[in-house]
Amino acid sequence: LGGGPLAGRHVIVTSGPTHEPIDPVRYIANRSSGAQGTALAAALRDLGARVTFVTGPASVPPPGGVGVVRVETAREMAAAVAAALPADAAVMAAAVADWRVANASGQKLKKDGSGKAPALEFAENPDILATVSKGPQRPRLVVGFAAETTDVVAHATAKRARKGCDWIVANDVSPGTGIMGGAENAVTLISEAGAEEWLRMGKDEVARKLAARIAEALR
Ligand code: C5P
Repeated sequence: LGGGPLAGRHVIVTSGPTHEPIDPVRYIANRSSGAQGTALAAALRDLGARVTFVTGPASVPPPGGVGVVRVETAREMAAAVAAALPADAAVMAAAVADWRVANASGQKLKKDGSGKAPALEFAENPDILATVSKGPQRPRLVVGFAAETTDVVAHATAKRARKGCDWIVANDVSPGTGIMGGAENAVTLISEAGAEEWLRMGKDEVARKLAARIAEALR
């Protein structure tokens, strides 16, 4: 058995986008490479944690040495997270679609020649982070992410309260930062103690630093 500060701890990490079908060949999704969630799962593994990695269809492969659960939709992700509980910590880095298509078609939608486009109806998806944070099997530490473009600290602080999680890792994804899909991240860690701005660094470094903080919090 391996050692490390997180030995014997179970951590759930969600990562990647979710895909919400419109019909069998089309979907709506959020933009997410899964890079930060994947780096985080690897960093937690390196500290000795048993990691359950619940991933949507990401563009980077999952790390080795973790338990991988592949899902497609937000509802599948919610079910996979519920099934993975209990855990010592949960880190929700997935870019979950807020809505699914309520009138998804079982057959491929076809142009019917009338020039009329189909109308999509939406239904709200479950909020996995809020559900876990407020649920009966709440892990000791629950961490959410927030991609913001303006008033990062104010929005992330409000989000922390609304979701009921312990920490929010806020990142500024304003156009021009190159963070979306890039190798670097500039994050602010929001906790009960306030806002802590981290220098811009590689997503791998953010992951290692965050994993170390999680180990410290679970000690
Ligand atoms: O509300 P917003 O989507 O900005 O919140 C982002 C955080 O909430 C992320 O940690 C994300 O993984 C999580 N989330 C979730 N389930 C949703 C929507 C967001 O777990 N349906």
